Amino acid sequence: MTQYFTNNENLKSEYRNILYKYQDYTLNFISDLGVFSKDKIDFASKLLVETYFKHGKNNKTVLDVGCGYGFIGISISKIMNSSVDMIDINKRAIHLTEMNIASNKVFSNVFVSDMYENVDKKYDVIITNPPIRAGKKIYMNIIENAHKYLNVDGEFWFVMNKKHGAKNTIEKIKNVYNVNVLNKDKGFFVILCKNR
Ligand SMILES: C[S@@+](CC[C@H](N)C(=O)[O-])C[C@H]1O[C@@H](n2cnc3c(N)ncnc32)[C@H](O)[C@@H]1O
Repeated sequence: MTQYFTNNENLKSEYRNILYKYQDYTLNFISDLGVFSKDKIDFASKLLVETYFKHGKNNKTVLDVGCGYGFIGISISKIMNSSVDMIDINKRAIHLTEMNIASNKVFSNVFVSDMYENVDKKYDVIITNPPIRAGKKIYMNIIENAHKYLNVDGEFWFVMNKKHGAKNTIEKIKNVYNVNVLNKDKGFFVILCKNR
């Protein structure tokens, strides 16, 4: 079966629109077959960004790892007035994110990268709804290596469900980060990590 993170050049296109409203903001996203949560904003991604809106800071440089059609990065760029780079391994996701950057008129950038392969700078914030279905090796690489791409005092934010091992993951990364759980809903934990 083709997974949402694979590049399938033969997959047909069926664009659809997804609307996101937060306070006075309305954002519009084009989505398509072959990307994660193609028909609606993913519950965990929404929980993550809305926790970030409450506890995060404006005007930061941000990297969204595994951006999909760009929901997390574009929303943060618009609502938190931040300069956001977005990366994904899936070329269709990159193309959709390019379109969504333009239509939502945000100051953001998107490029293909397998995990941090093409990332050559540091950020104030790295944020991700990690690709659980890509396997533990991949998502733990994203989580455990984020600190290498963070500025001093940088923050790494991610969301994970307890059924995917959120509690074990927190224990495992405590030797790298100071870890705080900022929100919990329907088994999902929103986790903030700072360099030790
Ligand atoms: C859980 S989805 C989140 C998508 C998007 N951020 C959202 O909130 O809708 C994880 C994303 O990670 C991407 N991904 C999978 N493996 C990857 C890798 N090795 N490097 C970068 N991105 C990857 C997938 O293509 C997918 O878009």
